[in-house]
Amino acid sequence: MSTQRLKVILNADSDYDIRVGVGVLDTFASRLRDETDAEKAVVITDSNVGPLYLERVREGLTQAGFEAFDLTVPAGEESKSIAVASELWEALALLGLGRDGLIVGLGGGVAGDLAGFVASTYMRGVDCVQVPTTLLAMVDSSIGGKTGVNLVAGKNLVGTFKQPIHVLADLETLRTLPTEEWDNGFAEIAKSALIDGPEFYQWLEGNAEALLAHDEEITQQAIVRALTFKARVVASDVTEKGQRECLNYGHTFAHALEAASGFRISHGRAVAEGMRFAARLAVEAVGAPAAFADAQDALLNRLGLQPITEAFSADELYGRMFSDKKVRKGALRFVLAQAPGQWESVAVDPDLVKIYLILWEQAKM
Ligand SMILES: NC(=O)c1ccc[n+]([C@@H]2O[C@H](COP(=O)([O-])OP(=O)(O)OC[C@H]3O[C@@H](n4cnc5c(N)ncnc54)[C@H](O)[C@@H]3O)[C@@H](O)[C@H]2O)c1
Repeated sequence: MSTQRLKVILNADSDYDIRVGVGVLDTFASRLRDETDAEKAVVITDSNVGPLYLERVREGLTQAGFEAFDLTVPAGEESKSIAVASELWEALALLGLGRDGLIVGLGGGVAGDLAGFVASTYMRGVDCVQVPTTLLAMVDSSIGGKTGVNLVAGKNLVGTFKQPIHVLADLETLRTLPTEEWDNGFAEIAKSALIDGPEFYQWLEGNAEALLAHDEEITQQAIVRALTFKARVVASDVTEKGQRECLNYGHTFAHALEAASGFRISHGRAVAEGMRFAARLAVEAVGAPAAFADAQDALLNRLGLQPITEAFSADELYGRMFSDKKVRKGALRFVLAQAPGQWESVAVDPDLVKIYLILWEQAKM
């Protein structure tokens, strides 16, 4: 299985490479030497990933001639905070990292978003490399440049756009990823396939069981397909002004559901449920065929993303949807699809949303 290389092209003068393969952790640092003159490199990781992969990454950086340091934050969403970012800024200053320094984000979306945020703000911005170690981070959060921390008022409410100079996804790291964490990646892969179009969608239908069984070759293909799709979308809309909205398919409902459950329901399960909800709303809102919703349900089931069985109040979900960042001028916007590759972003009549939320709640009772 050979390493695959992709490029995210942001504009005529700006692009970066992504490498996806087994063992890229052992070779990545020497490649970085062509892209940065940094003398110091600081790896930011979390307390689960550090003990597994930090030594390898540091070793590679040292061999490539970097003076390597590391900073470890507690694993978990709570680390995506201004308080933790502030500790990291102070620590970077104590390590003497200058404007020409390099930050390496090693871990899942939490370590990646935090490292990217710190890299984009420390000394008004230093270079950053993303080394994702969860399936979700490999297919989604490590590319595109969105960084962020959470506020008490909501997730990701403070952030920046900071494109990495390189992304390295080592499939070997997925061998230690807990099974339930794979769901988050599966949901984003299903979303990408659905929005991308029939080719990716049919490939996923043909390979769902192998992906569910963590077949490494199929996982690599899924990652490369999802990244190719996301790279194209990001290139067309670097700072999320339009086209990039499609990446939010299923997410308006998902964010409300995750919050209503006190984050007991994982992001992946919530996104899958959000895709089911959107497909049903699309029947009424944009005349999508009901058969499409059924086909999408079947694919999600085959990826192990069964419908959630717990009911949440329609009123509560509705209220939470209105506090979502995707609300514009008081209207609820949804990405709605009618078939793989055929999607649109529509302002849906809030009364219609309410009706569908009540139907959803009743179906779960
Ligand atoms: N920037 C973006 O575009 C974007 C997109 C989607 C999600 N996100 C963000 O990503 C975050 C979620 O990311 P996540 O799902 O990767 O969660 P995470 O970073 O919390 O990782 C999940 C868990 O797996 C552990 N882990 C990571 N890699 C491991 C490995 N290889 N082996 C063993 N354990 C490992 C982590 O320590 C953690 O406990 C959220 O904060 C979300 O807002 C950002």
